[in-house]
Amino acid sequence: MSATATITTTTPADVLRVEPLANAPFGARILMPSYTRDPAYLTDADFERLYNAVHEHLVVVLPELADLAPQSQYSLTKRFDPTCEGAYGHSKEFRHEKSVLRRDGHSVPEQPQVQILGQGRCDGHVGIESLELRHPTHMSFHNEPLSDEDMANGYTRFYRWHIDSALYGLAPPVVTTLLGIDCPTTDRQKIRYEDSGEEIETALAATAFASGAIAFDNLSEEDKKFALGTTVVYAPHPYIFISPAKATSDGLTMVSDGKELPLDELPEWEESKVKRLPLVWTNPVTDKHHLQVHGCCIYALETPSGKQELAEARQTIHRLMRPNISPEKIYCHDWDAGDLVIFFNRGVWHSVTGQFDAEGHRLMHQCNIASGVDPVCKN
Ligand SMILES: [Fe+2]
Repeated sequence: MSATATITTTTPADVLRVEPLANAPFGARILMPSYTRDPAYLTDADFERLYNAVHEHLVVVLPELADLAPQSQYSLTKRFDPTCEGAYGHSKEFRHEKSVLRRDGHSVPEQPQVQILGQGRCDGHVGIESLELRHPTHMSFHNEPLSDEDMANGYTRFYRWHIDSALYGLAPPVVTTLLGIDCPTTDRQKIRYEDSGEEIETALAATAFASGAIAFDNLSEEDKKFALGTTVVYAPHPYIFISPAKATSDGLTMVSDGKELPLDELPEWEESKVKRLPLVWTNPVTDKHHLQVHGCCIYALETPSGKQELAEARQTIHRLMRPNISPEKIYCHDWDAGDLVIFFNRGVWHSVTGQFDAEGHRLMHQCNIASGVDPVCKN
């Protein structure tokens, strides 16, 4: 079964407190100190507690913050990374007409690093007269979407396991903050693993997380050595590169049948901005190794035994990643209105799940900021 947290409520204390989630492989709930309800106004000591909790527990939940201002969300997010200069984690190309991200989110006018996500019509929010939000759907991204019958029976898919990052030019954000403002559904959904036949049941449109540290720890000694010695080369403008291609049924990578855009048909790009990142990133607080890769956006692997081109690289990455999305290894967050989830984007992979029906409604704010430096692997 998928992990679902059991949460108990306690009274506020003078300092921020951290409670590991029960019945989950990782994650924690944060109890705010008594002196503020706004996490942008934590003292240095309490921010350090939060910073360490995010790096140790990877996903933390701060409840009852539905009215958190976009300015507070931005300044809190920025505080996690002194090297960042304040630009949204994706470059402007993420709105490119061919990008697979083009329909994901709208910017808050007064704080454009904060994106508005969700489903359905939303009038008068943050000064925007009218918005039509659209939850991503695997139907337009997967090579073999579920049948109408499966969907009617409550099945869905992991949409795309990923790290939040432009993966071209900009460095991956350290954290992402995700605020559930209005999350009214109580419906459930099922996800079937097509290769193993396993199934999980979660809340509709839960956000799924997998730990890159657990992924690394569970590799064989041979694979650990391989991973520690491997560099991932991402495609230039990767979300445009993959736009004609389709994903595997588990959302971990793309099917290799030659549909990607030829490099000379991409928007202008330069070699110096192509991302070459280690396959393993070291957690600066715990010193643990995390297997961190965006399997849909890779272009090649530079391994200890030579270079792997696109198709082989995808097969290798899928083999290394797949065990780590098994039901007992993931945490699926069931959103309550007011939840602020902060996740260590350099230590977890995450995926949207689910699809809403015509009446479905959800409103969220997301913020991540490109870092000033790339993650490193400390061997
Ligand atoms: Fe994301």
